[in-house]
Amino acid sequence: MGVSKIRNYRKLFPYSGGQSHLLPTLLPLIPEHKLYLEPFCGSATVLWNKMRSTQEVVNDKDDQLINMLRVVKENPDELKPRLGMPSSEDLFYKYQKEIKTETDPVRKAGMYLYRINSSWSGTSKRDSSFVPKTRNSSASKIDQLDWFSKRLKDVCIENLDCVEAIKKYDAADTFVLADPSYRIVGKNLYEYSFTDSDHIRLAKAFKEMKGKFLITYNNDKFIQLIYKNYPQIVVKTAKTMDKAHTNTTEEHRLIANFDIIHRKFPHFTGTYFKP
Ligand SMILES: C[S@@+](CC[C@H](N)C(=O)[O-])C[C@H]1O[C@@H](n2cnc3c(N)ncnc32)[C@H](O)[C@@H]1O
Repeated sequence: MGVSKIRNYRKLFPYSGGQSHLLPTLLPLIPEHKLYLEPFCGSATVLWNKMRSTQEVVNDKDDQLINMLRVVKENPDELKPRLGMPSSEDLFYKYQKEIKTETDPVRKAGMYLYRINSSWSGTSKRDSSFVPKTRNSSASKIDQLDWFSKRLKDVCIENLDCVEAIKKYDAADTFVLADPSYRIVGKNLYEYSFTDSDHIRLAKAFKEMKGKFLITYNNDKFIQLIYKNYPQIVVKTAKTMDKAHTNTTEEHRLIANFDIIHRKFPHFTGTYFKP
């Protein structure tokens, strides 16, 4: 089994569990649709790199993250001066404390980007650890902010629970690309943890869908079983959480309610599992 090659994809900020390593596999699998929904958008890696759809919705339960995406969309010019501060442990912990009570959306968004760019492995947890860098990498995004803002212009940004979002936007021509927190390994990476009962209620929501879905998970037995009636494939990528060890790989299980098993696409390097 080979490993997917990564080219230069667009990325606004580092995020634990971000999907850039899976993009060569995921993008060719997107089926025809009118409405595109990412119910667990995180850093919205797929949105930035996919073709535009007629209607697009990104959603995440994390209100700090969603506030930041809304500010990037609506107020990029006010946000720019708040990016590019030098990397500083004192500033990191000051912002980590102040963001909790900050009421101004632009200031809050600046603090979020500063924190996530200096936090361990891009974790979005409210209390994360500082990672020293020569400079805070939000600086490098100032010039690109207008591109991200324009890309979000017609995108609806929601702050709902995943099942609520799926129910709200489901229709025959909807496509949902779901990247839920990975089971066990993803447990402590996000502010809102996703328990086994959440995985089960999500599977129920997918079962009731009229449109199409594609889910990405880690290669987990419990997940394999709760989706046992759907086509599944397993792909290998370089390990996203451990960039220092470039030879280490990890497996992802992709599950869909349409045919992903017989699709031929150029970058596929995984293994097929029939349901
Ligand atoms: C694996 S990450 C998504 C990463 C994203 N695909 C990317 O490329 O950056 C999972 C996301 O699910 C969000 N989340 C956790 N519980 C949720 C829930 N019940 N409803 C919606 N989002 C939730 C987390 O805040 C986190 O951003």
